[in-house]
Amino acid sequence: MNEITITLPDDLHLHFRDDDMLGETVPATARCFGRAIVMPNTVPPVRNAAEAQRYKERILAARPAGSNFEPLMTLYLTDRTTAADIAEAAKAGIKAVKLYPAGATTNSDAAVTNIDALGPVLEALEANNMLLLVHGEVTDAHIDIFDREKEFIDQRLGPITQRYPNLKLVFEHITTKDAADFVLSAGANIAATITPQHLLLNRNDLLVGGVRPHNFCLPVLKRNTHQQALREVVATGSNKFFLGTDSAPHEQSKKENACGCAGCYSAWAALELYTQIFDDLGALDKLEGFASFHGADFYGIPRNKGSVTLIKESWTLPESITLPNGRPIIPFMAGSEVEWKIKSINN
Ligand code: DOR
Ligand code: ZN
Repeated sequence: MNEITITLPDDLHLHFRDDDMLGETVPATARCFGRAIVMPNTVPPVRNAAEAQRYKERILAARPAGSNFEPLMTLYLTDRTTAADIAEAAKAGIKAVKLYPAGATTNSDAAVTNIDALGPVLEALEANNMLLLVHGEVTDAHIDIFDREKEFIDQRLGPITQRYPNLKLVFEHITTKDAADFVLSAGANIAATITPQHLLLNRNDLLVGGVRPHNFCLPVLKRNTHQQALREVVATGSNKFFLGTDSAPHEQSKKENACGCAGCYSAWAALELYTQIFDDLGALDKLEGFASFHGADFYGIPRNKGSVTLIKESWTLPESITLPNGRPIIPFMAGSEVEWKIKSINN
């Protein structure tokens, strides 16, 4: 197949950041996604409905002229989040909250230190039909970084899903066969997002021949058997897995650094890269479900009305992009050839 038309997709996990960075990140995503679930780990984080509303207005102001792109806002759970915060968020139309174990990733220092104390918040989420979005890694210093997702399943996710059997939960950016198997064997209220980097790369792409800071993200890339398991699970077309890029911009100087930040800025090529992956897997017929249906259905929002057409034509990703503040950022897969290209968008 050399051309494919799918319903306009949604990116159900990304990081826009804030202020002048929005001038870069919002157009990059609005070019081909109908909606996006916007992660709340800004500085300061988005902790309540009023903060989410103000952040949403800043995002809307950064949309290109004529764009119908819709940001879907989330809250950042802290040890101080209350059931009343959740009820208020539900009333304001907020669909989901994000659970970061404190210290797990970028700007997660103010997040949850005691997951066991979250009971009233999780009950309020269940009662208000809101989703819990989970960064699934333990943070215990003695647990090897490559085992942190698996440990989280055993220590945390298993018990939470048993205790709150009706809670809708998205296991975000899964990286292991263990996570894919957990989601497959769980009830219909448990789903997962998968990023382009975890489908395209494994830890060799991070470490062989030198450290490649632009492939560093969290959860960290795993061994190739896990990459293979993720590729197999998306190729099945299971509706428990959907598109979430985790596009996460950091300036070049913050990535190429003695203590480099985690995150791949993939927004300018994510849809094209996912299309390439499904093509490689011989599963282009499963792309639309993954990109445009499964996530919307899981969130309980209508599928988008528009469509996007991609053609098999190669193009080269830029080596660098200049941010609104004048500083450079290196996009994910910078300088690489991408085999699929967006031909037209009907929205
Ligand atoms: O690689 C990542 N970058 N993983 C995360 O969990 C957060 C994100 C960011 O905000 O930079
Ligand atoms: Zn993320």
